[in-house]
Amino acid sequence: MKTIGLLTSGGDAPGMNPAIRAVVRTAIYHGLGVVGIQHGYAGLLEKEFIDMDVSSVGDIVTRGGTILYSARCPSFRQEAVQDQAARLLKERGIEGLVVIGGDGSFKGALALEERGIPVVGIPGTIDNDIKGTHYTIGFDTAVNTALEAISKLRDTATSHERLFLVEVMGRDSGAIALATGIAGGAEAILVPEFPLDLDALVDKINQGNKRGKISSIVVLAEGCASIDQVAKRLREGSDSTVRTVTLGHLQRGGSPTVRDAILASRMGYHAVQFLRDYRAGVMTAVVCDEIVQRPLKDCLKKENKMKEELYQLAGILAI
Ligand code: ADP
Ligand code: F6P
Repeated sequence: MKTIGLLTSGGDAPGMNPAIRAVVRTAIYHGLGVVGIQHGYAGLLEKEFIDMDVSSVGDIVTRGGTILYSARCPSFRQEAVQDQAARLLKERGIEGLVVIGGDGSFKGALALEERGIPVVGIPGTIDNDIKGTHYTIGFDTAVNTALEAISKLRDTATSHERLFLVEVMGRDSGAIALATGIAGGAEAILVPEFPLDLDALVDKINQGNKRGKISSIVVLAEGCASIDQVAKRLREGSDSTVRTVTLGHLQRGGSPTVRDAILASRMGYHAVQFLRDYRAGVMTAVVCDEIVQRPLKDCLKKENKMKEELYQLAGILAI
């Protein structure tokens, strides 16, 4: 193998840049050429190829986002489009491809693998919900960002004796909500993995208010319920003055934490090693803090990683 390609796809995640840097520098260290493909699969179809050298990834390790840009490309689900993409990669002399993204991006990667392009996936999503790995790049940074926001909201909640209902990201996953809720001392955490009981939530807030609690934070995962409906129920059922905040995409940005930067660097390094060893069609996975390979075909689904133990303890500690 002489030349590998590299792209980022789907939602960006803090840590994608350190992963790009690690792929480029490890490949160059081993005498491989690296072609960066901008804008994910959409850019691949437009031949947005750039040669990457050691300095092209200088000064990016602490930066969020992705210098290769990310995009969604719905047409990539079509077989004819996948054929065309594989052809373009071969024409450009790309003999192996690293795809940094989520489970959707891996489906596209596997389609290329089936067309003769060896691929390795690196799991990058703040949601930490990819099957086969204990951890995905970006989760730790997103949780810390959300925690900082919640701590600030707590100040105003206390000063004005209010309840803040805070929506964090997670279309299908309550991972960010649970982690930030526990670390931020939230009075309640609402996640899609467990049934939503709004009566119990209202009771809990009322009990707290009776005990003299003057402020509350309720963390809601976006995929769990509509923030407006939960707020309405809280306003109707309690005396709390309720304010809502949706943290949104700010959770996807920012400098990667040490944990994300190191993990991304390790995954980038191992992705190149896997390609050099012709161990393709795999994802770099974290299992008990080791980087291991997992067949990509086993990593195409979202996985609920919520630990019931954590959810239970969150309820007990938030009395
Ligand atoms: P993520 O990779 O974060 O899960 P998406 O689900 O949006 O994000 O997928 C990113 C891109 O991967 C899509 O825009 C599309 O180009 C490609 N993709 C998603 N699903 C498939 C599929 N079933 N077959 C081929 N490519 C796909
Ligand atoms: O990256 C995953 C995610 O953060 C989901 O939790 C969220 O629903 C989604 O991205 C929104 O992303 P976009 O606005 O890019 O479609």
